[in-house]
Amino acid sequence: MMMSLKNVLVGMGCALLLMAGCKSNAQLPTGFIPENINNAVAQYTLQTNTIEASGKVLNPGYINNKGDVVYVTYEDWRSGFYPGSVWYLYALTGDEKWRLLAEKYTEALEEVQHLTWHHDVGFMVGSSYLNGLRFAQKEAYKDVIVQAAKSLSTRFRPAAGIIQSWNTDGGWQAKRGWKCPVIIDNMMNLELLFEATQLSGDSSFYDIAVSHADKTLANHFRADASSFHVVDYDPETGEVRSHQTAQGYAHESAWARGQAWALFGYTMCYRYTHNPLYLEQAKKIYDFIFSHNNLPGDLVPYWDFDALNIPNEPRDASTAAIIASALYEMSTHEKESKYKETADEIMKSLSSPAYRAQVGSNGNFILMHSVGSIPHQSEIDVPLNYADYYYLEALVRKRDLEK
Ligand code: GLY
Repeated sequence: MMMSLKNVLVGMGCALLLMAGCKSNAQLPTGFIPENINNAVAQYTLQTNTIEASGKVLNPGYINNKGDVVYVTYEDWRSGFYPGSVWYLYALTGDEKWRLLAEKYTEALEEVQHLTWHHDVGFMVGSSYLNGLRFAQKEAYKDVIVQAAKSLSTRFRPAAGIIQSWNTDGGWQAKRGWKCPVIIDNMMNLELLFEATQLSGDSSFYDIAVSHADKTLANHFRADASSFHVVDYDPETGEVRSHQTAQGYAHESAWARGQAWALFGYTMCYRYTHNPLYLEQAKKIYDFIFSHNNLPGDLVPYWDFDALNIPNEPRDASTAAIIASALYEMSTHEKESKYKETADEIMKSLSSPAYRAQVGSNGNFILMHSVGSIPHQSEIDVPLNYADYYYLEALVRKRDLEK
């Protein structure tokens, strides 16, 4: 008797589940959310099996040109995302296995709380420790979060009212003539400061976050609500010295992930402050992105909205995932249905075979086709751990909205 196509597919799926070490070969879950959770569990089971077999606490970041997984150090801006994705798997499944792994990978980042040489501690500690506090009520993580906020606050430049993103005394940043560069990505670090004030009662973190958000609102955006990537300040006078790019196509272009960070950043700042100007800004950024002629029909942007050879330019799935997650949150602040509907469309695209890798491929990351930095010729059209992180975050938010 011939097997139906459905049975063949279910059989294949069960084989993959078994390959991934899952306990059950029963009927595959159906429905968008269960099916995507199942896929993520299968991929990340393979990923964590590799880590556990190594006997080390490896931290997968992306894959290189040869197709090998590159592991990042605790000081890398991406170090919180893998532990964070494992926290989201715990949130999505309730399986204790993921909680134990998430704790182990998170606690390997303990030193990050003292890191002061770049601004990304908000990303790093937010995605790891803060999620541990949220999903597993890890009380001991509170001290780490507050200490990390203190470290981030050392980068606040009072005369300019902003947090300095990068140092300028080494690396490629030293060659740009900047004094105090601030990148739009830095909006994402503010969540750590808002949380630290709630945890400690020390309002100085909140004040720094609001100052940074206000200055960024004043200086980082063009009239069409698109964002520059880098604004260089004079840290003594607060004067804006220049508007530039580092990861975009040109100083005047709209680097796609920068627009996503801005959208997410102002939506998140509205959550903590209820300042209507922040939500207004998020709505303007939404309008910029979703009315742009160069936005493809599947809503997964090219790496830069103004890249030279569109449509023959790489897409950036990480941008799409960040936007989807931000829009699910926006839909809780704003009644209009378009924000959730757009997020659902993005998630449909990302979960299709065009972007979601087959289990066992893609270095065991979930999403394909992201871009790190084309000007630096690094991580082009590859999986990136933060694409997976924001995709899983969006899946958690979607599930919670639809409960
Ligand atoms: N914060 C670095 C990036 O978005 O690539």
